Amino acid sequence: MDVRSALKQGIAQLRESNVPSFTLAAELLLLHTLSRDRTWLYAHPEELLSEGDAQRFQALLTRRAAGEPTQHVVGKQEFWGFEFEVNPDVLIPRPETEHVIEVALDRLAVREVQEGRPPKNSGEGLLIADVGTGSGCIAIALAKELPAAEIIATDISQAALAVARRNATRHAVDDRIRFVKCNLMGEAAISDVTTAADSSADARHARQFDLVVSNPPYVGRHEKDSLMREVRDHEPEIALYGGEEGYELYAELIREAAYGLKSGGLLVLELGHNSLPAVEPLLDLPHWTSVAVTNDLAGIPRVIAAKRS
Ligand SMILES: C[S@@+](CC[C@H](N)C(=O)[O-])C[C@H]1O[C@@H](n2cnc3c(N)ncnc32)[C@H](O)[C@@H]1O
Repeated sequence: MDVRSALKQGIAQLRESNVPSFTLAAELLLLHTLSRDRTWLYAHPEELLSEGDAQRFQALLTRRAAGEPTQHVVGKQEFWGFEFEVNPDVLIPRPETEHVIEVALDRLAVREVQEGRPPKNSGEGLLIADVGTGSGCIAIALAKELPAAEIIATDISQAALAVARRNATRHAVDDRIRFVKCNLMGEAAISDVTTAADSSADARHARQFDLVVSNPPYVGRHEKDSLMREVRDHEPEIALYGGEEGYELYAELIREAAYGLKSGGLLVLELGHNSLPAVEPLLDLPHWTSVAVTNDLAGIPRVIAAKRS
């Protein structure tokens, strides 16, 4: 069988199995099988597949047709221009989460200008927390953009942290990201960065961070049946559901961030499609100022940012 016929058959099989974006999925699985890029695929339609490649391609199609996400089948997903290992222990990074990175970098730059300093492009002296790091995509993208910043990335899932550590090593930022297993920001994440001179119980918690970012679980359990099977049956529940309504984790996260951020420090949170009415009132005076909401490309309020007063 040649490349063109294999692709055609793959597309037909995935279409019959109601796979969304079936053409793209078949292409990605064939490219993965052949370790080729898309240009090669369309430049060599007559190339013959070996028996082994044809069997491997069929095995991948069967998994995808049964509902496994393409990213799990190929074991990777791109985010912020970098390739991340993914597996069923972590949420597959979503394109809308790139708005978290954009807003965080913008707000850091604006803060420097407002305080009369030149923008710190290197992130020197900055301490950042990424809460619920999953694959590590947010922490690693920020580490790449701010090559002198130090980052603490937390997750409640040890299995997720193992994936995040491998991704940090792969992108050569593992020396600047400390991965910590804890609930939300967790005492360990905060106390470990305190200097010995600052070790009173209060100082141990307080006011360390320049930036706290998080894409917390925000799907409501009541929405479970409306999720796509790829998400509902294959992504980790701990990464999806924030509670029955979905927005339950934000209150504690915002409380901890208020405690952990320096004065003038920034909080940047991803929002679920209906989280804004529950989250915005939590960012009230006297703790927070300069609250701003950013919509995603679909017009959904996706990121909320605030400054610690
Ligand atoms: C929506 S995923 C986000 C993953 C990644 N940051 C991203 O944007 O793709 C949420 C992550 O938070 C973690 N998590 C859930 N509950 C948590 C908690 N109470 N404390 C810390 N992490 C938690 C999950 O294990 C999961 O990795």
